[in-house]
Amino acid sequence: MDKIIVRGGKRLKGTVTISGSKNASLPILAATILGDTPSLIKNVPSLSDISTMVQILEFLGARVTYPGEGQILVDPSGLNHFVAPYDLVRKMRASICVLGPLLGRFNKAKISMPGGCVIGTRPIDLHLKGIKELNVKAEVSSGYVMVKTTGLKGADVFLGGRFGSSVLATANIMMAAVKAKGTTIIESAACEPELVDLAEFLKKMGAHIEGVGSHRIKIKGVKKLNGARHSVIPDRIEAGTYMLASAITQGDVCIRGARVDHLHAVIDKLKEAGVSVQKSAKDIRVTANRELKVVDVITLPYPGFPTDLQAQMMALMTVTNGISVITEKIYPERYMHVPELNRMAANVAIEGASAIIKGVPLLSGAPVMASDLRASAALVLAGLVAKGETEIHRVYHIDRGYEGIEKKLSRLGAHIKRVE
Ligand code: EPU
Repeated sequence: MDKIIVRGGKRLKGTVTISGSKNASLPILAATILGDTPSLIKNVPSLSDISTMVQILEFLGARVTYPGEGQILVDPSGLNHFVAPYDLVRKMRASICVLGPLLGRFNKAKISMPGGCVIGTRPIDLHLKGIKELNVKAEVSSGYVMVKTTGLKGADVFLGGRFGSSVLATANIMMAAVKAKGTTIIESAACEPELVDLAEFLKKMGAHIEGVGSHRIKIKGVKKLNGARHSVIPDRIEAGTYMLASAITQGDVCIRGARVDHLHAVIDKLKEAGVSVQKSAKDIRVTANRELKVVDVITLPYPGFPTDLQAQMMALMTVTNGISVITEKIYPERYMHVPELNRMAANVAIEGASAIIKGVPLLSGAPVMASDLRASAALVLAGLVAKGETEIHRVYHIDRGYEGIEKKLSRLGAHIKRVE
């Protein structure tokens, strides 16, 4: 199994180009099966989660080819299966986003129930509640969720939950509703940019969707959708991670290709901490050349501070003088990185859904274990400033969501390598 070794102490400098968004690509690839003709998706990052989604599409009977770098062509004309099996779903919970498209295509779907994972229990009750409103029967049996309908029917669907709305439940309802008879209104919809991108793709396929990006989405169902060409938005979480990498190393890094409008909450917190963030037509330049200040952070649904940057923000706070509090409002248990950061001499205590971080002057490199995708990114960031060497094990977690992280960081001057 690969590990990543980071030797801390280098100030990052240079330009890093941001890849296409993983969390936009996944539902968009799933949505291709709603079309009667092939779709060409561009700017897709090369990640293991994307390979898992491709395997699911192939399992369902789609023909997938790669006409160019970052491009995936999906021909769904031979689709002959409506099952997403356990072996694929257990690798990636986001496999659940084939539920809506399969219903739109076959009026039925059978999907292995995703279990909990290290970031929390992660139920799918909102997906099922929403989908049932569209004249769908759903039951869970033998570890599978089975859904079927005599015909999708538009309806009013409320998707508010204990922790706000759900991104992939909104995606699933949207992808089923585009083929439903009549109009669907999703109230308390999630507004993440990845959903806006999904809707853009669906509209290119011929769907009628209004209001996406707000909490109320209106969808007028159509009988038929065609394949379309689409280029995926840049990955705001990858961009935020490199912004934080620049800040933690007192670096000077230009983030190329990211969308400022997707990163307001992150930029705001960085500025509050004393980091300079300058926007130009091409880049977001992130410079830290003075002592930073602690900031308190609460993760919230978009446009709030993203939970997917909580661990990386915590890495920055571990080496910032003072006491900060990070509160996790999306996944209250998403703190698996804390014991690992503490192994590197950080001082973090968990109190309910909050982490109290006492900044230390220096972290100390150590062997650490990656537990999930964003936690591993936080450990890499911590390694960049720790004294000595940090060995990050189980890096397959990082490969799920960061394209060539060690190459990108090396180009910025980091001492980082991957060893088998
Ligand atoms: N929730 C429910 N019931 C549901 C669905 C969700 O209670 O039926 C709860 C969740 O347990 C959580 C909250 O609602 O407390 C929000 O979860 P959401 O459904 O929005 O998460 P998701 O759609 O499964 C996506 C991203 C995650 C990201 C979250 C929150 C993808 C593929 N995944 O997951 O990304 O953390 O939204 O923004 O888009 C990552 O990339 O590392 C990652 C975990």
